[in-house]
Amino acid sequence: MSLVSMNVLLAHAREHRYAVPAFTVNLESIETAARAAEEEDSPIILMGWEGDLQRTDIRHWAALTRAVAQSSRVPTAVHLDHGTCFRICMEAIQCGFTSVMIDGSGKPYQENVAVTRKVVETAHVVGVTVEAELGRVGQGSEKLTKAEAQQMMTDPDQAAEFVRATGVDALAVAVGNLHGLYKYEPKLDLERLEEIRNKVDCFIVLHGGSGTPRRPEAIARGVTKINVAADLQLAFLGGIRRVLENVPATPRYQANVLVPATDAMKEVMKATIREFGACGQAATVLLRA
Ligand code: CO
Ligand code: CO
Repeated sequence: MSLVSMNVLLAHAREHRYAVPAFTVNLESIETAARAAEEEDSPIILMGWEGDLQRTDIRHWAALTRAVAQSSRVPTAVHLDHGTCFRICMEAIQCGFTSVMIDGSGKPYQENVAVTRKVVETAHVVGVTVEAELGRVGQGSEKLTKAEAQQMMTDPDQAAEFVRATGVDALAVAVGNLHGLYKYEPKLDLERLEEIRNKVDCFIVLHGGSGTPRRPEAIARGVTKINVAADLQLAFLGGIRRVLENVPATPRYQANVLVPATDAMKEVMKATIREFGACGQAATVLLRA
């Protein structure tokens, strides 16, 4: 019923100046994310990370996520996060993902252009939205020198050229944001973000949204999708720890452990949705879909 393309969600977010929350989910948390979005009346992107999809059969992940999206009251996209090659993107499309990310950010520039263009040309034939990455969003746990951190940032002029050369729908940018938990206080380069926004006509995506300061300012400067994973994982682990500490070690039903953990995760999801300005936006997306 409300499985929609990521392009539709991001166009609505751009028009109404908010960011669609993109949550990394596993088999244990797909429904949790859908419920959080329904309770906040928010559009949502359910993401499978390629690393996790090596643990779970990608066909099972896709079938369950599509079913959850189809029965949801809010518009939901099903997205592959950090696809590392053409082949995995095609596999995801075959499984029914409505969008894919091809991450060629670790490759030389021309190779990134080539692989991204190849995915775009193929995906667009079947109406699948494509996200790519330029610059490199590193890990918050990495110790970077100032020069290295600067080197990884997205260059606005190169971004303009990249988007023209590839026809990509959405671009993940590196403007001081990092994946996972930050070892040092991160600093977002909002001027750079604004410059990129002024030079490209595709949607702008912020990865590594957990613990990143000034997210509302980034949204005001044109970011329409923010990926969140680490904050959710921490909430989940915290929930499990509390259960294990407070309950004697007796045999117990699996749900007794998992439900408090996914409930804790859901609260973080809902707070994130509100911070992104996405609550209450679902109804008007459906009108256009
Ligand atoms: Co990422
Ligand atoms: Co509108």
